Amino acid sequence: MLALSVLALVAALPQQTFRLGDIDLSAVSQGWGVAHKDVSVDGHPLTIGGTQYAHGVGTHAVSQLTLSLDGKAIQFDAWVGLDDEALQEGSVDFHVVCDGKEKWSSGVMRKGEPAKHVTVDLRGVKTLYLKVGDGGDDINYDHADWADAVVKYDGKPPKPQQTVKEKPYILTPKAPHTPRINGPVVLGARPGREFVWRIPATGDRPMAFSAEILPSTLKLDPVTGVVSGTTPNAGTYTIRFGAKNRLGEDHRDIRLTVGDRIALTPPMGWNSWNCFATAVDDAKVRLAADAFVKAGLVDHGWQYVNIDDCWSVIPHSNDPVLGGPTRNEDGTIRTNKKFPDMKSLTTYIHSMGLRAGIYSSPGPTTCGGYTSTYGHELQDAQQWANWGFDYIKYDWCSYSEILKPEGLDNLQKPYKDMQAALAQVNRDIVYSLCQYGMGDVWKWGESVNGNCWRTTGDIGDSWSSMSSIGFSQDGHEKYAGPGHWNDPDMLVVGWVGWGPQLHPTRLTPSEQYTHITLWSLLSAPLLIGCDLTKLDDFTLNLLTNDEVLAVDQDPLGQPAHRVSAKEGIEVWARPLADGTKAVGLFNRNDEATTVVFRPSEVGLPGSHLIRDLWRQKGLGSFSEVMFTIRAHGCELLKVK
Ligand code: GAL
Repeated sequence: MLALSVLALVAALPQQTFRLGDIDLSAVSQGWGVAHKDVSVDGHPLTIGGTQYAHGVGTHAVSQLTLSLDGKAIQFDAWVGLDDEALQEGSVDFHVVCDGKEKWSSGVMRKGEPAKHVTVDLRGVKTLYLKVGDGGDDINYDHADWADAVVKYDGKPPKPQQTVKEKPYILTPKAPHTPRINGPVVLGARPGREFVWRIPATGDRPMAFSAEILPSTLKLDPVTGVVSGTTPNAGTYTIRFGAKNRLGEDHRDIRLTVGDRIALTPPMGWNSWNCFATAVDDAKVRLAADAFVKAGLVDHGWQYVNIDDCWSVIPHSNDPVLGGPTRNEDGTIRTNKKFPDMKSLTTYIHSMGLRAGIYSSPGPTTCGGYTSTYGHELQDAQQWANWGFDYIKYDWCSYSEILKPEGLDNLQKPYKDMQAALAQVNRDIVYSLCQYGMGDVWKWGESVNGNCWRTTGDIGDSWSSMSSIGFSQDGHEKYAGPGHWNDPDMLVVGWVGWGPQLHPTRLTPSEQYTHITLWSLLSAPLLIGCDLTKLDDFTLNLLTNDEVLAVDQDPLGQPAHRVSAKEGIEVWARPLADGTKAVGLFNRNDEATTVVFRPSEVGLPGSHLIRDLWRQKGLGSFSEVMFTIRAHGCELLKVK
């Protein structure tokens, strides 16, 4: 009788309901932002197709979450869709996978569509995997909601699985103690302009630098290797630079082309946005410049130290640091109090042989709401030059208040205006267009004198963001070349964070190798986006492989294109100035994959010498060679 009543009690126990938002949401990996409980990824009430939901998880494609179950869970239920908050139309696809088998998928869903209901039987299931894909395009505006998502269960509540982290692995041997001159072999400048450049050289210090046939308008500091002065008349000057220490010496012929083109190789440097965003200030920029020298980045050609948004005054703000008059009476732009003296900041940067960069927008305010250039194009260009800046990143933000971002005339107008302004300024300023690829900017960026142009929206520190941007650059290569480059956005390695709180990049080590490999193959501007005072050995190693950087800086300036893509393996290749080819083998699969590479695939039939650029070692001569490539990892080869 007693046994029977216990059984009856157990049978009558109500099944329990577990809300998805109650798990530790740090287990969610996603392409942008972080997952939130009961609100969207941007922190608004979860809203799909006009209907609000009190509970659930707001995430962003590509989003992945794995839950461990004990086999006694009963059912998963949710309403899914794209959140109404997305500013523009994104597209997503939801998937529910049980023990490796897909049990439900939504198909592509777009903004404004009503939520779809999903019910999946979980009996006997041990692993529940919830994924939101990017709807087959990129992840822009893919704000995705698992609304009212619950797991009904009898046994233990579901537990999120934290993904096992790949440990950092260093591939590149340290640079030798003997001198070695690195960096680009061509430099571009306009005549009669202020010039600063530092010979990038590895090897033990002290080192004595020399230059044969240096134009008389330039001088070399033999201790630091900093070359400064004024550029000579138009012409090509081949300068033989030397670097000598107690162990030996090295020489390199560098071609200084003085004419109308600059940025003959993609700019390499640092930008404050991906780490500090609004938290940038004068001290942090100086520390970044210091780190260039201390960490030895200068010895590998890293050169530009660039301030992004947030240096000017916020209009109508009462903030004592950020508010105040936006311009002087004569209209010249003012800095906010975080940048008390721009001239002294650029002088500091130049004193190390580095160059300085700044940011603005053609609209009245920047994306961050700070004063920008509208109506003051020439005055601002002049001011940047007077302050001593060598690089301007020119965004689009708020220009939509002036002209709709439609039609080539509108899209080009602000960039032509700034082109005209820069043409009147007596300083070499790299002109970087940042309008996210609107109107296929790669087709006309060069015509407005752009030295580089962003081809995409903002990058995030996730595999989905970096890989969807990087692998979608195929076809743009024909528009780039010396002096004008496609820019797939800045690097997300090291400590990033877009604000005061930084975190180590969420890219795995293999994904970071893929990031640098792909960007180098693409001849992308390389702008490090991390806090340089927190460089660890892995990140430093990643950023200082001279053979890899030489691919990015190759003087032929012909970016790679995709040769093939099959079963998650992609081959990209580009010709190099020395007649060899650089080849990237990429594994986009979630598991290690074995790949057979034949030089014939990149137009080189027969056997060829193959060099592994990350490990800086010759592998031998092959007509066929096999690699096992880690998940999301790569190989970068030079084929002779
Ligand atoms: C964005 C730009 C970012 C950053 C930001 C500053 O439009 O893409 O790279 O510059 O503005 O507000």
